[in-house]
Parts: sequence; structure tokens; C-alpha cells
Amino acid sequence: MNKEILITGGAGYIGANIVDLLIKKKYKVVVIDNLSTGNKSLIHPDAIFYNVDISDKAKLEEIFRMHIIDTVIHLAALSSVGESAKKPKKYFKNNVKGGLNLLEAMVENECKKIIFSSSAAVYGNPQYVPINEDHPINPISIYGETKATFEEKLKLFDKQHDLKFLSLRYFNAGGSSDDNRFGEIHIPETHLIPSILKLAAKNREISIFGDDYDTKDGTCIRDYIHVVDIAEAHILGIEYLGNNAQSEMINLGTEKGYSVKEIINLCSKTLEKSVKSKIEPRRKGDPPILIASCGKAKKLLNWEHKKTIHHIIESAWKFEQKLSI
Ligand code: UFG
Repeated sequence: MNKEILITGGAGYIGANIVDLLIKKKYKVVVIDNLSTGNKSLIHPDAIFYNVDISDKAKLEEIFRMHIIDTVIHLAALSSVGESAKKPKKYFKNNVKGGLNLLEAMVENECKKIIFSSSAAVYGNPQYVPINEDHPINPISIYGETKATFEEKLKLFDKQHDLKFLSLRYFNAGGSSDDNRFGEIHIPETHLIPSILKLAAKNREISIFGDDYDTKDGTCIRDYIHVVDIAEAHILGIEYLGNNAQSEMINLGTEKGYSVKEIINLCSKTLEKSVKSKIEPRRKGDPPILIASCGKAKKLLNWEHKKTIHHIIESAWKFEQKLSI
């Protein structure tokens, strides 16, 4: 029988891409999403879908009783760095308390393998780059704090209940699925690449949040990773956890950084038009530079990114064009 995978947040941008790849690899997929930030159009037609909030423990229990879940992939969370500064309680309630419900429902139903969608935001202002997994955890945003706190809960569940986990710390996800069916939809859009593409298409200016950082051109540097590369790491993660492996925290990035200004220029090439920009004050909770070291992913999962920044921008643009049809 094909393995059954439960994915929370499977109607979100990254979740939908993981579901798509799981289905291509012949897994049976159960999606839980409350559609608060997920999108109906991203629900995969071949997945079983439950419109459920992870804070509803009774419903979670029911789903675990109805399916024989091999591994859980947990993405359901609020994920805006800016919003988290304004609504910290909401972030802790969703990202930590909601996640704990899920872990409790798992152990009560003898499901002991989970892949958690963590973030580079757990590191805060880096003490060195590239950042490896031994770098101190020192988040500077509430969002990062909730991800770091949940990683601690996972360690506790491992100790107390022998629950095995992989915490995958994504750097900056971008791009869309190979057929451009599953891409980035956030309302409102705050992420850099889709924001540039949306605004430039309407000849509007993109705001650059700070040009006085201690970086080569003064703007923030990020490690952009293609969403399909992220999805592939989850497939390898399921295999890894299936081999009685130990719990681990693993970075997913490309080991390359691009500044905001460089991304604007690259988008301008893809769009074949100049992109207007204006300098605005720094955004709260933004580290100046985030670049991953990915040796651990290579060693433990035999994973390496395959797609470049050009694939990211091109596929993001194709998805944008589909959206506006
Ligand atoms: N930026 C702008 N203008 C914009 C939007 C973004 O200048 O209109 C800048 C930001 O200040 C930042 C960079 O572009 O320096 C990237 O910003 P994003 O909002 O695209 O992404 P973040 O780095 O804030 O956060 C993303 C995810 C987080 C994750 C983090 C890890 O949203 O979940 O990457 O690096 F934790």
C-alpha cells in the first residue's frame, strides 16, 4: 500500500507544491488547511482535503482515526514577519499552541514521524555567513521566535514520546511548480519577488526597505530557494525518517545571496522593462543578510538545490501571468 502522508497547510504556497510532488511520487495525501491564508485554487484535486483548523483537536483526532498516517508534514502557520510584530499573541496561538495540538493528536494515535516547516528566521542577525545549523538561535522577529519555540517543543516530544522529527529551516522560498500551476498567492502580497513582478507589471514602484545596511549595495541579502527544490527535500525527508533516523534540524538554501537591488535588476531582465523603485525606511525584524550553509542537507538527505535564481524569477513570472488571465 502507498504511504499516507498528512500535510497541514497543504493549500498554502509551499504546501501545495509539496502535495503536488507527493502525488507525482504516488503517495496518498491528506491535506488539512483552514484556508485562512491558504487558497482554494491551490488545493490539489487528487488529495483528500479537510477544511480544519489545527486548534480543533477533536477534528484532528478524528482524521488520525480515519487514516493510517505514516508521516506528518506540518506547514500550517502564520508566516509574515511584519505582521508578527503587530500581533504576537495571534502568532504564538497559531504557530505554537496549534502545533502542540497536532503533536498531541499524533502521539495519541501512534503517529511518530513529522517534518516541520521551520525558517531561517530562527537565527536572527547572523554572527557569521553562510549560516550552518550550529549557529546560535536568536530570532529577532516574533515569527522567528514562534518557529524556534516550536523546535524546542519537538525536542521535548522526542524525549518524552520518541517522536522523530526533521525541522527544515527554509531560507527564502520563491518560484512556482514546473507547470506553473502552484505558485505564490498572499493577500496582501509582501514578499519581494512577487511584489516586484506585480507592481512592475502595472508600472508601479517597488519599495526598498532600507539601503543603509552593511552589505555590498546597502540593501538586504537573502538566499532564494526554488519551491520545487524545497518540495524535493520533503520527499527525501520522508525516506530519511522511515529509516529509523535521529531527529535533526536542517537548512534548505542555495549557499548564494542576492541583494534586494540585485533581485530588482534580475526581475527587470525577465520582464524586459525597467522596474521603478523608491527607498523606504528599514522594516522591523529584517536581518541584513541570510545565506545558508547546506552541507548537512547534502550529507543526511543527499539533497542539493537544482534550480537557480533565474528559474525562480521566470517561474514566478509565468505564475503571475496565469493569475492575471
Ligand atoms: N523587501 C523589500 N521590499 C518589499 C518586500 C521585501 O525591500 O516590498 C525586502 C525585505 O526587507 C527583505 C527582502 O526584501 O530584506 C526579502 O523580504 P521577503 O518579505 O520576501 O522575505 P523575508 O526575508 O522577510 O522572509 C522570508 C519568509 C520568512 C522566512 C524568511 C527566511 O517570509 O518566512 O524568508 O529568510 F523566515
